[in-house]
Amino acid sequence: MSDSPDGPSPNAPTLDAVIALRFSRRDLMRGSLAAALAAGLAPQAVPSRAEAAEMSAEPPAFDFPELTAGVDEHLHVAEGYEAKPLLRWGDPLFADAPAFDPRRQSAAGQERQFGYNNDFVGFIPLDAAGRRGLLVVNHEYTNAELMFPGLAAADRKGVIGALSPEQVAVEMAAHGGSVVEIVRDDEGWRPVIGSPYTRRITAQTPIDLTGPAAGHPRLVTKADPSGRRVLGMINNCSGGVTPWGTWLSGEENINYYFAGALPTDHPEAGNAKALGMGAVQYAWSRFHPRFDLAQTPNEPNRFGWVVEIDPFDPGSAPKKRTALGRFKHEGAAGARSLDGRYVVYLGDDERFQHVYRFVSRDRVQPERGANADLLDAGTLSVARFEPDGTGRWLPLVHGANGLDAEHGFAGQADVLIEARRAAKQLGATPMDRPEDIEANSRTGRVYVMLTNNGKRTADQAEPANPRGPNAFGHVIEIAPDGTDHGAETFRWEVLVRCGDPSKPAVQASFSALTTENGWFGMPDNCTFDGSGRLWIATDGNNRRATGRADGIWAVETDGPRRGTSRHFLRVPVGAEMCGPCFTPDDATFFVAVQHPGEPDEEGALGSYEKPSTRWPDFSPDLPPRPSVVAVRRKGGGRIG
Ligand code: FEO
Ligand code: CA
Ligand code: CA
Ligand code: CA
Repeated sequence: MSDSPDGPSPNAPTLDAVIALRFSRRDLMRGSLAAALAAGLAPQAVPSRAEAAEMSAEPPAFDFPELTAGVDEHLHVAEGYEAKPLLRWGDPLFADAPAFDPRRQSAAGQERQFGYNNDFVGFIPLDAAGRRGLLVVNHEYTNAELMFPGLAAADRKGVIGALSPEQVAVEMAAHGGSVVEIVRDDEGWRPVIGSPYTRRITAQTPIDLTGPAAGHPRLVTKADPSGRRVLGMINNCSGGVTPWGTWLSGEENINYYFAGALPTDHPEAGNAKALGMGAVQYAWSRFHPRFDLAQTPNEPNRFGWVVEIDPFDPGSAPKKRTALGRFKHEGAAGARSLDGRYVVYLGDDERFQHVYRFVSRDRVQPERGANADLLDAGTLSVARFEPDGTGRWLPLVHGANGLDAEHGFAGQADVLIEARRAAKQLGATPMDRPEDIEANSRTGRVYVMLTNNGKRTADQAEPANPRGPNAFGHVIEIAPDGTDHGAETFRWEVLVRCGDPSKPAVQASFSALTTENGWFGMPDNCTFDGSGRLWIATDGNNRRATGRADGIWAVETDGPRRGTSRHFLRVPVGAEMCGPCFTPDDATFFVAVQHPGEPDEEGALGSYEKPSTRWPDFSPDLPPRPSVVAVRRKGGGRIG
């Protein structure tokens, strides 16, 4: 677990000292706050060009030679590093798994092979030497048109109509997640085929619903009168690893799987609309009535949760933890409150949705098994960002602040099932697509990736979401009051507004030390290395939007170079960058290349026959394959 979810290290400078340094500068700027607000810009503490010139003698926090930004068919990493695909879509995980053959795919085979579109990657060490561990990987979604030959179609509807029952079964088996034991020798990392830990979770795996909403009538279906057992997890985007060694996985865009519509006076109609139902992207409902809203109106209520999985017990049922709320979950990275409770930061990735935090009722216990149900009791809250740089967590607790029967919340289950509506009722701040949110264990500060929001108007710009429209996203830094992840209040500021800083209209705010390769757009995932340095992965850069592929950028958060970004790795054309994760010794950096081979523009449909790249195999007989890649320094050593 590279980003140890524990509190601040005792050797790190105290957070108050760090805040005092940075906030005093901001306080100095308070005089210009009104002007900044009028311009729709939050005050910034990144160095200006003049300040940067003075500081350029300061050594950078990162020592890798910067990569040149651009787009082509290959994956590129900074000079002096090597990037080797470790697990590709279709790679056998079990001893009895068939070899990957894209022209003879079967659901039975796919259930024994690595799934599609790897997103979150977590590493759980199995030894102290850093040579053995478990990788836990989310398989978010499938691109049928890139996976199967002969599906070339004008649009998504055409693909949906052309898919066979077996192809749909393959898609369902390619969703979910993988647990893979990996070992490292002098040749690098490799999977242990047939390890007792190996597991595939799919869209058909029995999963328990637990916590306050479990068993509620709104979770009951004909197939499951208990309301406590659902088949599968879908669209699992990012996640987290807990200190007790479980894997948290966030279900995100669940609306894409449900076809049909509800009459407007149906009791679930408003709830379905709030999650964006009516935008089906999959053919599953043609063969599985549970994905047809009209036939199974409660089935969507059984998705959109954070799933907890015990990777050490492949026979255990994963658990959807309803206490953490139902929305389009991005990640589920954690930290500990000062009194030892577990805190999970949660983003709801949609335009004008919110930033959440869950705090467990009980403390994390030293004995692993004692935490088995820790995430079933606690308080879910949603963030309100005040224009003056303060903020507050508003609790989603039934019976208080309008979360009552008068407003359509009969109990806590309703508040959790309709967390979006509850958050709006409380006056939470609508954000520009909150993605990963992670705490830096060295400083206690929390970083919120806000990817973009083309629908925010100039009138809707405000300090926490300072641009309308926001084409390139931004990063917010939160400092919990008292360095306590359990505190009700916090201070915040914008670390960086993304996009090309050389174009004044973009209003980007990287430090002036950032080169033409160093800036990026659309921050999505993030992680910290062992010394607490921030690494950001992007989703949405392409030739047209930014003239560069998605990838990894290292971003300085402290000292005079704060807000300086440097390019480390870029993905092949059509792909986005997911899953950044360091081993505890910082000698390996795992990254996940998702949907390589898509067209290099938003909304266009690719095809198996003409992908934009055939990475990583570059064989005319093989399609592009989403893969987890292990990055190491040539000759070994700490990365970055
Ligand atoms: Fe699956 Fe929010 O990206
Ligand atoms: Ca994401
Ligand atoms: Ca994204
Ligand atoms: Ca994504």
